[in-house]
Amino acid sequence: MEKVVIINSSYRLKKAKILSTKKLTEKEKFFEIALSDGERIDHEPGQFVMISLLGIGEVPISVCSSPLIRDSFDICVRAVGKVTNSLHKLKRGSEIGIRGPYGKGFPIRMLEGNDLLIIAGGLGLAPLRSLITYVLDSRRDFGRVHILFGCKEPKELLFRDELEQWSERTDLHYACTVDRADADWAGNVGVITTLIPGVDIEPARTFAAIVGPPVMYNFVIKELLNKGIPENQIYLSFERHMKCGNGKCGRCQIQNLYCCQDGPVFNYEKIKNMSEAF
Ligand SMILES: Cc1cc2nc3c(=O)[nH]c(=O)nc-3n(C[C@H](O)[C@H](O)[C@H](O)COP(=O)(O)OP(=O)(O)OC[C@H]3O[C@@H](n4cnc5c(N)ncnc54)[C@H](O)[C@@H]3O)c2cc1C
Ligand code: FES
Repeated sequence: MEKVVIINSSYRLKKAKILSTKKLTEKEKFFEIALSDGERIDHEPGQFVMISLLGIGEVPISVCSSPLIRDSFDICVRAVGKVTNSLHKLKRGSEIGIRGPYGKGFPIRMLEGNDLLIIAGGLGLAPLRSLITYVLDSRRDFGRVHILFGCKEPKELLFRDELEQWSERTDLHYACTVDRADADWAGNVGVITTLIPGVDIEPARTFAAIVGPPVMYNFVIKELLNKGIPENQIYLSFERHMKCGNGKCGRCQIQNLYCCQDGPVFNYEKIKNMSEAF
């Protein structure tokens, strides 16, 4: 029988190798990955890939590196279940499967020339790290940049070295808060919304990018609207359970939208009336 070779299907599983790993916290691990045939994934900040472990399963995971890094890409994975725990056990040199990248990311071209207010809650820093590193590597293409990051406890802080570097840069404003301090914490204490009133912005030229746990969105959006940021300048990313990643199975549907294809990054003005979204 004639052999069928699938070249350009969006379902195509590509072989990839783990180049390095790093434990970030008790639950989160960082992986640097390269496609085995030297291909590039060419993602936009905010897009995700499907990570496939043979015989175990497949999970959607955001790419957390800058699209300007072409020969490899990074992911940050929280161990919560079957696939993610198995992924945590893999070491440098292990082979995995990749599909994607999928979905719509942050509208970089629209953000260029404007001020940015980037708000990350917990693991939401992973997809936003892709945007942040891109913006910092193309710093002259953007106006003022504010980064606000919040997590429950200091031990949950991701990418600590980078947070330290951001806090030292003079060309951006970085602030961090934790819900509960420990004995060594000398920074802000309180939920992330407590940082927003103090941020000095020009609302008409500020675009907001938010990723965090669902509970955070309503509160953060309320604060942003209070500051005068127009609804159509607020972008946020939604996580839904996903299977195909390709707009076919309907698993990730919010009304007439597929999170995997129309999102995961959405413009607030377009989805604000979808009660299932929040
Ligand atoms: C677009 C997108 C991007 C994502 N990016 C990241 C990322 O960068 N890093 C990361 O660690 N995780 C990310 N996730 C979540 C990740 O896909 C889930 O944690 C993973 O699918 C769990 O699979 P599992 O087999 O390990 O757990 P399972 O054994 O399937 O489930 C364990 C627990 O996790 C919950 N869960 C499963 N899938 C999801 C999901 N899609 N969203 C929320 N909860 C889920 C289950 O309800 C259950 O409580 C993303 C999800 C989406 C949709
Ligand atoms: S995951 Fe199948 S339609 Fe979105």
